[in-house]
Amino acid sequence: MVLTGGGDCPGLNAVIRAIVKRASQESGWEVLGCIKAFDGILNEPTELVLLDEAKVAGIHYQGGSIIQTTNKGGPFAWPVKKHNGEWEYIDRSDEMIRKIQYLGIDAVINIGGDGSQRISQKLFEKGLNIIGVPKTIDNDLSATDSTFGFQTAIQEATSAVDKLVTTAASHNRVFILEVMGRDAGWIALNSAVAGGAEVCLIPEIPYDISIVKSKIDARFHRDRGFAIVVVSEGAKPKHGTVVGQKADEIGYENVRLGGVGFKLAEELKQAGCEHDIRVTVLGHLQRGGVPIAYDRVLATQFGVKAMELVLNGEFGCMVSYRHPYITSVTLQDAIQKPNLVTLDTALIKTARGVGINFGDDTIAYEE
Ligand code: F6P
Repeated sequence: MVLTGGGDCPGLNAVIRAIVKRASQESGWEVLGCIKAFDGILNEPTELVLLDEAKVAGIHYQGGSIIQTTNKGGPFAWPVKKHNGEWEYIDRSDEMIRKIQYLGIDAVINIGGDGSQRISQKLFEKGLNIIGVPKTIDNDLSATDSTFGFQTAIQEATSAVDKLVTTAASHNRVFILEVMGRDAGWIALNSAVAGGAEVCLIPEIPYDISIVKSKIDARFHRDRGFAIVVVSEGAKPKHGTVVGQKADEIGYENVRLGGVGFKLAEELKQAGCEHDIRVTVLGHLQRGGVPIAYDRVLATQFGVKAMELVLNGEFGCMVSYRHPYITSVTLQDAIQKPNLVTLDTALIKTARGVGINFGDDTIAYEE
């Protein structure tokens, strides 16, 4: 049984297709798709679809997930409405494992990010034959060199910077581009370098607004010039907090981030920035749509490897890319620590080397 959990990501369908194609080379294996993460197995009636080669033909370049996904609820926190109208969250994991075994399902492949792989590990500890496949556009998993979807997101963000440069230059404006990146600033960092931004603000480096303003001012001479600021949704000022709101969606645990771009524009004005400022929020445009070739290739590699782990009975593992190998790590190791941008990250040094400012006071390139 295969499922996709958490936010969607370009390349999910390429993984599903690869699993089915690899399974079809073995006799006696059938692949079932579980609709909307684990909901398909927990729901009554059960929502499982048979995924055969005809069903997955040509899906490798489609965005989204043909078996749908969700980042709400799950087997350990299933939302149930109480008589008084309030919601409570119950653990249905044992019941779910019994159902999987009753249906004669030999193995589960869970394609998802860190939250999904934490669930995989807990289910593995309870005896489920489960394999993880890492997925996130944020690239915030440390147990793999890269995740599919990430390069597509960078490409979208870079295209946005390229477009904003032309309009910013024509009007002599400051443009702020808000991109995704809850805890990790990889999308912002990569698109800022690829697009030639002046400022890049990421969750890992709290910014000083006066430094951001000085950098922008230096790009203007009299009333000429322009500047591009790329900001991660999870960026925050020094001594400040992230911008977001508690979601009112049942079972959605995260704070819904968004709005730091507008907050930054306001802070710049208050700090005395006299240039015109416009804000663009890229949002889910960087998550939907066609995966670029790199992500299709990585996703296909992950799918084939996941099926091979199943065939070898290597459960409790997550597929991983460690250049030049597609390998695996234990789920336990995979969920240990996130992959965050650190000050000594090579790309941070490169970015500083081409004059990108991070709103901190390290301005010179240092080896
Ligand atoms: O984890 C990936 C991510 O794209 C984050 O950067 C973002 O905060 C989150 O998903 C938004 O997810 P959704 O809008 O689907 O709840």
